[in-house]
Amino acid sequence: MRTIICEEPNRFVLTTTEVPVPKPGEALLQIRRIGICGTDYHAFKGNQPFFVYPRILGHELAATIVEVGANEQGLQAGDQVAVIPYLECGTCIACRRGKANCCTKMSVIGVHQDGGMREFMTVPVSHLVKADGLTLDQIATVECFSIGAHAVRRSGVEQGEFVLVIGAGPIGLGVMKFAKLAGARVIALDMNEERLAFCKQWGAADYTVNVLNNPVEQISEITGGDFPTVVLDATGNVKSMESALQYAAHGGTLVYVGLVKADITFSDPEFHKRELTLMGSRNASQADFQHVIASIRDGHIDTSAFITHRSSFEDMIAAFDTWLNPASGVIKAVVEL
Ligand SMILES: NC(=O)c1ccc[n+]([C@@H]2O[C@H](COP(=O)([O-])OP(=O)(O)OC[C@H]3O[C@@H](n4cnc5c(N)ncnc54)[C@H](O)[C@@H]3O)[C@@H](O)[C@H]2O)c1
Ligand SMILES: [Zn+2]
Ligand SMILES: [Zn+2]
Repeated sequence: MRTIICEEPNRFVLTTTEVPVPKPGEALLQIRRIGICGTDYHAFKGNQPFFVYPRILGHELAATIVEVGANEQGLQAGDQVAVIPYLECGTCIACRRGKANCCTKMSVIGVHQDGGMREFMTVPVSHLVKADGLTLDQIATVECFSIGAHAVRRSGVEQGEFVLVIGAGPIGLGVMKFAKLAGARVIALDMNEERLAFCKQWGAADYTVNVLNNPVEQISEITGGDFPTVVLDATGNVKSMESALQYAAHGGTLVYVGLVKADITFSDPEFHKRELTLMGSRNASQADFQHVIASIRDGHIDTSAFITHRSSFEDMIAAFDTWLNPASGVIKAVVEL
């Protein structure tokens, strides 16, 4: 079968490998679409800390089941599925408490172990979610959107609340969309005017604010001086994460969805006077995947405008370098098999 391996930073190789044989509890999948995200880009560029090469990338997967044993979900050969790429240990404190998304020994398909840039792969049946009624392109966006769905669920967004989402990349757009679906009035904050325009056009935000243009004043004005009761940062930028507190209402919640490999510092008086609730949000759960699939199926998310770039499997190596370069206007690139 055809396989693309990231041999070392900045080098993909198209080669052939053996079709894997599923172990008990695993299904054999035919990979049909691969969504590309920042993680793949950083791994390719050699910027992903502790990344081990060679590695088959690809964790945003749409697949067709080729072979599967008897299973509780009623999955059968021919079914189209999304893959939950976060493989948990099942026994650690987080897993025992139903929070497998932040397992202490997390192994992510396409990051810590080989992923989906190949024609066939095996995946535990427990990590497949049936995606009836969705196109393959739509299924390829489910993992990315589930990150936003999870963050919004954790934040407890309620109908009518003002919610600020900082960062209008693919992750932030998903956060905005699920905050909207929860009934929030969404404010998008970024410095990229093209992305802010997309937030409005795509129906993810009611208001947009450029961070370079007096954001505190603008956000105060939009919210009638109250400030947003939920702020979610999806920038992956230290400065943004540190200054996010100033936008939150007293009694509000701040969620770090974006992550950085750095220390974050902020003023305790700013934190304390608000009695701020501060949360991290990591990965997503089976329930988030189900929620995303239902939301797409019900027509709440326009995935065709979200997917801005695409290529065939063979052409991916040449196209990859141009994707995720903000100048290319990329939001989501998808590889077709
Ligand atoms: N929680 C999780 O499990 C999870 C999963 C996937 C990705 N992520 C993280 O989410 C983050 C966002 O991912 P993405 O793919 O959307 O990234 P991206 O780089 O495409 O988007 C980030 C956006 O933030 C904006 N931005 C940067 N600095 C800013 C600032 N100071 N103020 C306002 N806006 C600013 C950029 O202009 C850009 O539009 C990354 O840190 C990524 O690692 C988290
Ligand atoms: Zn991803
Ligand atoms: Zn665990």
